[in-house]
Amino acid sequence: MKNVFKRIFHFVFVILSKVKTTFFSKLFISFGYLLKSEGFYNHFKVKSFPDRISMHQHLSSSFVNPKDKIHFMEFGVYLGQTYAIWVAGNKNPQSKFVGFDTFTGLPEDWGSEKKGSYSAEGNLPDIQDSRSNWQVGLIQETLPFYVNRISKEEKKVIHIDVDLYNASLITLFYLQPYLQEGDIIIFDDFFTFTKTTHEFKAFCDFLELFNTPYKPLFKCRLGHLVIEIQ
Ligand SMILES: C[S@@+](CC[C@H](N)C(=O)[O-])C[C@H]1O[C@@H](n2cnc3c(N)ncnc32)[C@H](O)[C@@H]1O
Repeated sequence: MKNVFKRIFHFVFVILSKVKTTFFSKLFISFGYLLKSEGFYNHFKVKSFPDRISMHQHLSSSFVNPKDKIHFMEFGVYLGQTYAIWVAGNKNPQSKFVGFDTFTGLPEDWGSEKKGSYSAEGNLPDIQDSRSNWQVGLIQETLPFYVNRISKEEKKVIHIDVDLYNASLITLFYLQPYLQEGDIIIFDDFFTFTKTTHEFKAFCDFLELFNTPYKPLFKCRLGHLVIEIQ
């Protein structure tokens, strides 16, 4: 009889553990981060743009003086839509532009978006500008070498649009020693409804690691956020 009770207890315990570790953890991760990013996002009382294109145009041609020398780095380029806006907007001949991408799409699934989404079939964007260069491959492999070309003193504009948590965190981690006051970071998917890992989670973990001071500058209705390093 004692053994039967023991078995029933064990069975119930296993079921409850499964519910706890799978169902509740998943729920917490999705809704915990969702609520947190929603809180962050709506808490910031900054100018909000109706779409990201007008936000990038304002940033590249007005907020950042087009005559300023900048080092623009885009992580996640795809067809180069936002990258092209910055190359066209900034007129300083000494500015540097670099785009990091596999150009074969997401290296792994991102929620409902499958590995290979946003593939440019290996083609580089048709952007003819001698200030521009491409770092083709996984950011995890290209960025650790590229950082030697970054100087802390130059003004940096960093656009993070890789979607995935791991590539976002590695980007922030490698760039952290080079960040200085006035540098700008644009998150393309700061506030995401449907995914459990994302740029917001990477940003939270980055702040846990480095406590880098920043202030929000702009947001865009679809969940983009721009911050300035303080
Ligand atoms: C949403 S798209 C970028 C869109 C682009 N910024 C635009 O405005 O049109 C995301 C890109 O991130 C790239 N990507 C994601 N993870 C990566 C990684 N670990 N290394 C290199 N590229 C990555 C994908 O190949 C994809 O092109």
